[in-house]
Amino acid sequence: MTRHDTGATAAIEITSFTEDHLPGALALSQAAGWPHRREDWALGLTVSQGVAAIENGRVVGTALCSLHGRVATLNMIIVDQSMRGQGVGRLLMEKIIALAGDREMRLVGTEQGLPLYRKLGFAPTGRIVQLQGLARATPSEQPICVGAEATEAMAAMDHAASGMERAALLARIAEMGVTLTTEGGFAMLRPFGRGHVLGPVIARDKAAARALIAGAATHLTGQFLRIDLPEEQGLAPFVETLGLSRAGGGTAMVHSPRPRPETGWQTHALISQALG
Ligand SMILES: CC(C)(COP(=O)(O)OP(=O)(O)OC[C@H]1O[C@@H](n2cnc3c(N)ncnc32)[C@H](O)[C@@H]1OP(=O)(O)O)[C@@H](O)C(=O)NCCC(=O)NCCS
Repeated sequence: MTRHDTGATAAIEITSFTEDHLPGALALSQAAGWPHRREDWALGLTVSQGVAAIENGRVVGTALCSLHGRVATLNMIIVDQSMRGQGVGRLLMEKIIALAGDREMRLVGTEQGLPLYRKLGFAPTGRIVQLQGLARATPSEQPICVGAEATEAMAAMDHAASGMERAALLARIAEMGVTLTTEGGFAMLRPFGRGHVLGPVIARDKAAARALIAGAATHLTGQFLRIDLPEEQGLAPFVETLGLSRAGGGTAMVHSPRPRPETGWQTHALISQALG
């Protein structure tokens, strides 16, 4: 554990994030208005290292670095409201940037986080749109299968779309929920926050992506569903026809991007803003 005097604040300690920090971390994310449950934090932790800022035994800051092969996603960057603007956020970011090593780093930034991320060298690459609401049954424009097992082929499609190695993470998500497949793509639905989240949605073309999303909405008819979409894929208007409305989003940012081959596979929905 290292002690830091951030000037205006009393000395805080920055320590490696462990499961013991989960209750305090959950309190922080809830106070920030985020819907994560303890299980949602725990899923992220299975692929992450991170840091917690501690003041008088209380968790006042968190930041995680999730490792997916040559890419790291930085996430759950939160500072207690009473301690913002005093350098704690920068300190936490510097620690998780070090954990990322020489990997490409990605994050989805809130408005509040953008100034800090820009100063640290992150550049915007696009918008993520968060849609949520009660799902409406909708016919799929091509056949889909509900209830598949996670396969190596899915991990390969995900890697082709995202550049991330996430086979173990996808297998865990598949166990938590339901996997949908169609010609040219797959999608995973799992409990998250206030209801369910659909993601990832990985597809070769928009028809396959729309079929998977419609299939998930039908599977969950009448229940709360959330989807986080890269805006440039253009599917937000379609998702709105399924009963979901825009409920915010964020700015996708990257640091030290690596060139990636054009594969034709696309990410149409994120696992989460945290995990990309
Ligand atoms: C984003 C957040 C973590 C930042 O934490 P923080 O402790 O307040 O950040 P810091 O005090 O270290 O400030 C970071 C830098 O951003 C700068 N900054 C902050 N707001 C700014 C603004 N509106 N305009 C310009 N610069 C700004 C600060 O001056 C500081 O720069 P410096 O290090 O060069 O002095 C915090 O606001 C937070 O928890 N917000 C709610 C949760 C959230 O949105 N998290 C981001 C998720 S992606």
